[in-house]
Amino acid sequence: MSTHNLPKGPQAHPWLQQFQWLTRGEEYLKECHQLYGDIFTLRVSSDSTPHVFISNPQIIREVFAANTKQLDSGKEAGNHPFLLGEHSLVVQSGERHIEHRKLLAPPFHGERIQSWGEIIRQITVQEANTWPIGKSLSLHQSLEMMSLEVSLRVLLGKLASEQNQKLKELLTTFLNPNISILQIIFLHFLFLRWDLGPWSTWGKILRRKQQIDEIIYAQIAQRRQQPDPSRTDVLSLIMASRYDNGESMTDVELHDELLTLMTQGPEITVTTLARAFYWILRHPPVLEKLLQELDSVGENLDVKTVSQLPYLDAIYKETLRIYPPPQFAFPRQVKSTLQIQDYQFEPGTILSPCIHLTHHREDLYPQPEQFKPERFLEREFAPYEYLPFGGGNRRCIGVAFAQLEIKMVLATVLSGWDLVLDDSKSVKAPSKNSFAPPPINGIHVVIKGRRNLS
Ligand code: HEM
Repeated sequence: MSTHNLPKGPQAHPWLQQFQWLTRGEEYLKECHQLYGDIFTLRVSSDSTPHVFISNPQIIREVFAANTKQLDSGKEAGNHPFLLGEHSLVVQSGERHIEHRKLLAPPFHGERIQSWGEIIRQITVQEANTWPIGKSLSLHQSLEMMSLEVSLRVLLGKLASEQNQKLKELLTTFLNPNISILQIIFLHFLFLRWDLGPWSTWGKILRRKQQIDEIIYAQIAQRRQQPDPSRTDVLSLIMASRYDNGESMTDVELHDELLTLMTQGPEITVTTLARAFYWILRHPPVLEKLLQELDSVGENLDVKTVSQLPYLDAIYKETLRIYPPPQFAFPRQVKSTLQIQDYQFEPGTILSPCIHLTHHREDLYPQPEQFKPERFLEREFAPYEYLPFGGGNRRCIGVAFAQLEIKMVLATVLSGWDLVLDDSKSVKAPSKNSFAPPPINGIHVVIKGRRNLS
C-alpha cells in the first residue's frame, strides 16, 4: 500500500486559493471535488495550513472515531466563530471540552425536552395568528422571531416582556449584521477588526454584543442571588451541575456557553425551517402527502405523535440532506501523526468532513439535487453517510431540540394554515448545478386562510 502525506489539490499560490475560497467558496469547492475526487487538499487559511476536505464516508467514519489526543477541533483547529468567548464549547478542545460537554449536553436530552414541545406549539400559534391573510409575508423574518422566542424560553425561562423583546432585537441584529461581502472579507482578518466608533461595522457589532453580555450576566447574577431549585431553564440546570471535581462553572464560563447556545442554535434551526417550507410548498405532491399524514392525527399534535410521523420525518431529513445549513463539520486538527487508509496526516493538518458533498454523492443519493423525501423511507443511512449534525466527540448537542422544534413548527403551521409560495417575490428553485441553496430571506408566502380540519 502506498502512503501519501496529503491528498491532491490545486497548486495555485495559497493567497489565490484563499481569495477563491472567500469570494466563491462553494463553486470553488465543487470544482475541486470534480477535479480531485472525494478527498482533496486546499490552503485556505491565512497561515496556508493544509486543509483536507473529505466526502468519502469511510474516511469520515475514521475521522469521527479518532482519538481526541490525535485529532480534535477547537480554537487551534481554526474553530473560533466571531466573538464567542474562550470558554465556549466550540472553541475548547481536549479535557476542557470533555468537561464542558458533560455539563452542557444533559439539559438537551431526555424527558425534559418533551415538555418544550408544548411551548413551541404555543409560540408558533401565537406568531402565526399575527400573519395577514391574503398578503405576502417574508417567512424567514417570522420564523426567526418564533425561533428566538422558543430559544430564549428554553435557555432562560420566561423573561419580563421588555427584556425579552430587547434581547430578541439585539440577537436578530447580531446574527444578521447586514454586512457586505467586502466587509466579511475585511473582518476575516483578525488584525483588521478595529473599533472605529459606534457607526463602524466592527464597532456596531461590538456594542450590540456588549448589551447582550450585560443581559446574560444579569441573568446569572439573579440566579446566584435567588437560587430556585424548581427552575428548569437550561441556564439554571447548567448552574446546578458540577464538574467531576465538585466545582461549578464560573460566571465567565456560563456567559460564554450561553452566548454559544443563543447564537449557534436558532439561526441554523430557522434556516432549516425556512428551507423545509420552501421545498414542501414548491412540491405540491409532497405537501399533499404531508397534509394527509397530519390530518390523520387531527388536532392531536403532541410531541409523541408528531415525532412518530414517518413522512414528516423524511421531509425533515431530506431538507437537511439537500442543503445542510453547516456545509462542513467543524475543522479537526491533527495533533499527532494520524494514519487513515493510505494517508498519513502530519500534526497541524486540518481535516474537514464536508457534509454537503457527502450528501450529494450519487452512489448514496441518486439524483442528489432533487428533493425526494421518499429516499429516507426506502433505506437507512449510516452516521458517516448522512451527517447534518456532524459526528464523534463534536456531534451537535442540540440535535433533539432542533428536531423537535422543526417538526413541531412544520406540523402546527401546515395543519392549521393554508399557505402558498408567493412566486412574484420568492426566489426560484436553485439551478441543477448550483451548490448554493435558495436564499432564505427570499422566501415569501401568502397565507390563504385557516385550514378546516375535516
Ligand atoms: C437544524 C439545526 C442544527 C444543525 C443542522 C446543527 C449542526 C451542527 C454541526 C454540523 C455541528 C458540528 C459537529 C461536528 O463538527 O461534528 C454542531 C455543533 C454544535 N451545535 Fe448544532 N446544529 C443545529 C442546532 C443546534 C441547536 C438548536 C443548538 C443548541 C441549542 C446547537 C448547539 C451546538 C453546539 C453547542 C455545538 C458544538 C458541539 C461541540 O463542540 O462539542 N446546535 N451543530
